[in-house]
Amino acid sequence: MPQIKLINIVGARPQIIKASAISRAIRKHFSGKISEIIVHTGQHYDKEMSDVFFDELEIHKPHYNLGVGSARHGRQTAMMITGIEDVLFDEKPDCVLLYGDTNSTLAGAVAASKLHYPVIHIEAGLRSFNKTMPEELNRIISDHSSTLLFAPTNAAFKNLIGEGFKPENSPPYTIDNPKIYLTGDIMYDNTLFFAGLAEKKKSTFLEQLSLVRNEYALVTIHRDSNTDDIVVLNEILVTLKALAEEKNIVLVMPLHPRTIVSLKTKLKSLYDDLTHCDHIKIIPPVSFLEMILLEKNCRLIITDSGGVQKESHFFKKPCIVLRKETEWIELVNNGTAKLVGADPERIRFEFLNFVDLMIPLDYPGFYGDGKTAEFILNEILLMFEKESVL
Ligand code: UD1
Ligand code: UDP
Repeated sequence: MPQIKLINIVGARPQIIKASAISRAIRKHFSGKISEIIVHTGQHYDKEMSDVFFDELEIHKPHYNLGVGSARHGRQTAMMITGIEDVLFDEKPDCVLLYGDTNSTLAGAVAASKLHYPVIHIEAGLRSFNKTMPEELNRIISDHSSTLLFAPTNAAFKNLIGEGFKPENSPPYTIDNPKIYLTGDIMYDNTLFFAGLAEKKKSTFLEQLSLVRNEYALVTIHRDSNTDDIVVLNEILVTLKALAEEKNIVLVMPLHPRTIVSLKTKLKSLYDDLTHCDHIKIIPPVSFLEMILLEKNCRLIITDSGGVQKESHFFKKPCIVLRKETEWIELVNNGTAKLVGADPERIRFEFLNFVDLMIPLDYPGFYGDGKTAEFILNEILLMFEKESVL
């Protein structure tokens, strides 16, 4: 029986990490049945935003790198669509696999669906209900171009039903008769797989940064709503610095290049101030294994990242979310993540609340059994009427 040829489209850091779960499951359970071609759009290109993940997470080097790089959204997405379309003409895959909600996801959805290749969307159905957020349009368009949609949470599954997707659809599945699934979260697969490895491979990492377990908070900031408006970025960082000094806790900040660019070009004196503060450690983006260690050993997490919010839950850490809304609404309903936007008073209130927390919080299993990638690949096989392996 011929193999299913799957094109895996990645571009941004979290997509490369997510793709590692699929690559691993193909190697372990589906070799001989599914083959993958990795197309990297080049949306992220710095070593620490891209190569480091291929090396560390044992993902096959991209078969194609479109080298698109940074640009305004329209231009960047257009270049990606052109490049992906060329690859699809050459490779003629059975289906195209997309992750999340970036411009690379959108480009893959447009290029593949226009050529009538079935699109498979991992992390379908997530909504912030804020269409000014660039990712929200990417999500909606990608979902409505897809044939198989894998929703990671109950809330995401319900959102799809709310938009007219029908859980009762039966095969054959097409873009006009799509199938929606409630799966778990593919990043939970990764956390379970890599957490032990991180301890072994990076045993001296915290020491190298002079960090003491439970005596620091982890901060990541990269959303355009926080980085591009300097009043907002200034308020967040000034508030966090004051809190770190007041509570005598270190804040470690592996900052996205976008945030560093804003700080260095538009907030130079604040940047100098932060780099001279004993309570603040601004560091370049770290590898996934290093990030796992930072998450696992911190006291609390402050972030505007989607992935890091969830990982706070995996590692049972309270999380302050520097956004007004979140797609991972179950975390907020659970009381372990607090939405504060960029409001200094709310940041302060939740920080003081979480930093000295004495009562243990509850972290129910919202995100599946750690075998989401296997489930997804099995359903892909079934769509092509191959024998199920599970
Ligand atoms: C993108 C995604 C966002 C995701 C994030 C993950 C979109 C619209 N946004 O945001 O959903 O959460 O990736 O990290 O797709 N830059 C570098 N080096 C790099 C990459 C980026 O210096 O390797 C800088 C450039 O100045 C660039 C800026 O970061 O202009 C923004 O990069 P871009 O990929 O457009 O968006 P992200 O903020 O990374
Ligand atoms: N991450 C990482 N190194 C870092 C920052 C984040 O490996 O310096 C990982 C993080 O653990 C998570 C993913 O990148 O798995 C999240 O990516 P990001 O915050 O860039 O994007 P988002 O999830 O918001 O789309």
